[in-house]
Amino acid sequence: MIYENIEILLSAEKIAARVKELAAQITRDYAGEGIVLLGTLKGAAIFLSDIAREIDLPIEIEFLKASSYGDKSESSGEVRFEYLPEIDFRGKNIILVEDIVDMGYTANRLREFLLQKNAASVKLCALLDKPERRKVSVEIEYLGFSIPDEFVVGYGLDYAQRYRNLPFVGILKL
Ligand code: IMP
Ligand code: MG
Repeated sequence: MIYENIEILLSAEKIAARVKELAAQITRDYAGEGIVLLGTLKGAAIFLSDIAREIDLPIEIEFLKASSYGDKSESSGEVRFEYLPEIDFRGKNIILVEDIVDMGYTANRLREFLLQKNAASVKLCALLDKPERRKVSVEIEYLGFSIPDEFVVGYGLDYAQRYRNLPFVGILKL
């Protein structure tokens, strides 16, 4: 491996298998309905593009960009929207697609925002969860993997904008 400072935590094969399972579950849960997959940029882009192709339902794809204020390792809890899609959320079944739920502020704020916009339903699909880091409680209806409190990169997740293209999720040893 060219990245000597990264230890593989979830292989590409393991991720692909879990993505298929989550997609099958979503396909069953929303049978006969349409959904909007709403991904958070940039981290969820790769996960969303993989899971979207495994879901056997009519779907729309949208993205938004949110950031916890300051963009530091310790968030203040204030979430800012940097980009929002120009669609009407009213009456839509939204599945919020996140790369990772860490402290929980982003997911919570987004769910609140979408319900205010009168979405018919809002569920959360997250590739990763770091439960040890949670500050506010978040329900994750579709979870890929629960992981220990380590900084991870790959499969969409970055460190200073690098490593998003790694096909696996690995622990970054700084
Ligand atoms: P939170 O749940 O509001 O704390 O926000 C989670 C966001 O923090 C994610 O969408 C990621 O952008 C970032 N993040 C948290 N933990 C990690 C990590 O281990 N690697 C890369 N990004 C992370
Ligand atoms: Mg990041």
